[in-house]
Amino acid sequence: MSSALQGKVALVTGASSGIGEATARMLAAEGAAVAIAARRVGRLHALRDELAAAGAEVHVLDLDVTDEQAVHAAVAATVGTFGGLDILVNNAGVMLLGPVEGADTSDWTRMIDTNVLGLMYLTHAALPHLLRSRGTVVQISSVAGRVAMRGAAAYNAGKFAVNAFSEALRQEVTERGVRVVVIEPGTVGTELREHITHAPSKAAIEERVAKIRQLQSTDIAEAVRYAVTAPPHVTVGEILIRPTDQA
Ligand SMILES: NC(=O)c1ccc[n+]([C@@H]2O[C@H](COP(=O)([O-])OP(=O)(O)OC[C@H]3O[C@@H](n4cnc5c(N)ncnc54)[C@H](OP(=O)(O)O)[C@@H]3O)[C@@H](O)[C@H]2O)c1
Repeated sequence: MSSALQGKVALVTGASSGIGEATARMLAAEGAAVAIAARRVGRLHALRDELAAAGAEVHVLDLDVTDEQAVHAAVAATVGTFGGLDILVNNAGVMLLGPVEGADTSDWTRMIDTNVLGLMYLTHAALPHLLRSRGTVVQISSVAGRVAMRGAAAYNAGKFAVNAFSEALRQEVTERGVRVVVIEPGTVGTELREHITHAPSKAAIEERVAKIRQLQSTDIAEAVRYAVTAPPHVTVGEILIRPTDQA
């Protein structure tokens, strides 16, 4: 275990799989006390037991980020358990691809509620604590927050919204010592695609990714590590990470 984040407290949403799980592991390995949040609490308990056995302090939060009251309770529980909050990683998300024409708009609602409003609720609830600690917010956005593509309009809309919200937030809080970091991965090998409900879109993306070396969740956790362990006067504002094989 390293000690770059010894004495720091982190909260990671969507820590039950993929990028969130890898980020929670990285933060714990750097010495942070970590609150891990998601809906599949069985997975969180297994992760907590594993990290605790290696000496980390981990607290499990049963959280649906679309529930604003539950978000406030989760932030309060983190601060109550560990005494403060230094790093918020807004990672929970879904990617329900499909064309606009004929879309199941319940996919749009779920995506915007989770990827945009959930992230905004967490940021809002955590901000007083981050201002106190002069902490860091890490938003897991996407290349899809920088470049729109047909078949991804609603996902693009959500991730563009994350980038816009984060830049405005940065301007509001940076002079008070709070760092806002936006991470924009390309394709990462996780469970994300499994939830796509539009069968042709799911088949098309599976076919595309089968031909490339995807990023791994640990590649993204490394980017988070770089940003959160930078000296306090350095804000790593944005990191865009693409698989080399993906044009
Ligand atoms: N994989 C990629 O190619 C890629 C590329 C760019 C950006 N991203 C972004 O990276 C983030 C993480 O995705 P991933 O690739 O690691 O996928 P993943 O393995 O499917 O992880 C998504 C996480 O979000 C959580 N989640 C979903 N809805 C939630 C809700 N309503 N409340 C609380 N937690 C919720 C899931 O936990 P529960 O189901 O247990 O609640 C899970 O832990 C997302 O924001 C995604 O947009 C991914």
